[in-house]
Amino acid sequence: ISLKPFNTFGMDAKAKFFARFETVQELQELLQMPELQQEPKLILGGGSNLLLTKDYEGVVLQNGIKGIVKQREDEDFVYLQAGGGEVWHDFVLHTLRLNLGGIENLSLIPGTVGAAPLQNIGAYGVELKDVFEELEAVHIETGEVRLFDTSACRFGYRESVFKNDLKGQFIVTHVTFKLHKHHKPNTSYGAISSTLEEMQVQQPSIQDISAAVCHIRQSKLPDPKQIGNAGSFFKNPEIQLTQYQALQKQYPAMPSYPVSDTTVKVPAGWLIEQCGWKGKVIGNYGVHKNQALVLVNYGGARGADIQQLAFDVIQSVEDKFGIRLHPEVNII
Ligand code: EPU
Repeated sequence: ISLKPFNTFGMDAKAKFFARFETVQELQELLQMPELQQEPKLILGGGSNLLLTKDYEGVVLQNGIKGIVKQREDEDFVYLQAGGGEVWHDFVLHTLRLNLGGIENLSLIPGTVGAAPLQNIGAYGVELKDVFEELEAVHIETGEVRLFDTSACRFGYRESVFKNDLKGQFIVTHVTFKLHKHHKPNTSYGAISSTLEEMQVQQPSIQDISAAVCHIRQSKLPDPKQIGNAGSFFKNPEIQLTQYQALQKQYPAMPSYPVSDTTVKVPAGWLIEQCGWKGKVIGNYGVHKNQALVLVNYGGARGADIQQLAFDVIQSVEDKFGIRLHPEVNII
């Protein structure tokens, strides 16, 4: 089966086996099938953070668990549990209809609810971990269901335990979010406050913030339905403050965000743009013209082409700035 419809880069790789599950029980049954037990497994959400560079010699499991249930509420929060197969943005819209706050800044992020905790998705000043309560996951080897709270997930910048120590061991089936009844709009991100100003909104509702975020994303980030891509291809690198200060002498315009007393984050998009990559087209793939952090497939590119481009970008940024970029995208 071709995986082309299942990855936003639009890579035409094949999988040896493909199965979709819609309940925890169906998943447990699949995991027990003797013919699948020895096969490597790739769990697919929206396929929006994935670069397939070759055919997959194993079983691709698509999470189709749907449903959004209110678990409980207290004075300040409503706890909503969503199936891992729910489309992330549809879930955001659902919370906006219920007038619950917390994930409006994460509007329009491609992918699914089940994939969101793996890389602790984040945008415009908010990260998934800020509204996370717990998740349920199935252990691939034993089929048992396990609960993970925030500390067990060990969230970091685009990181969690599921990308590290527990990589490839669990399948996230349900995620519970702790959403605010009394909203705390987060407009700390410059682009949001300036867009709200343009929209002439003074006291933004969560719906206004969502609209602003959608507007910013649509103007900067390519729509995967039109141009194959997986969002930011690299993480923003964290470097020592001393290294930053030294670089700043040579490149006074270099932007940064403080991380700790001794480290800062530098926007990878800026570094890549400075190396001349922004908008570069190499045949049927390249670097996006509005956001240098995004690599794009204009149609028909191979995963290996994009991977080579990523290597070249990493190399040139390292040569020019002595900073090593790391992919955010999962390369298979
Ligand atoms: N910049 C450039 N040139 C570019 C792109 C960016 O100079 O081509 C510089 C500008 O100085 C700009 C700054 O980088 O002010 C920040 O750019 P932007 O607001 O687009 O954010 P980012 O740091 O490039 C991160 C996330 C995005 C997220 C935005 C908004 C990462 C790897 N990426 O990008 O996440 O939407 O912030 O919060 O952290 C994703 O993970 O797929 C993703 C799109």
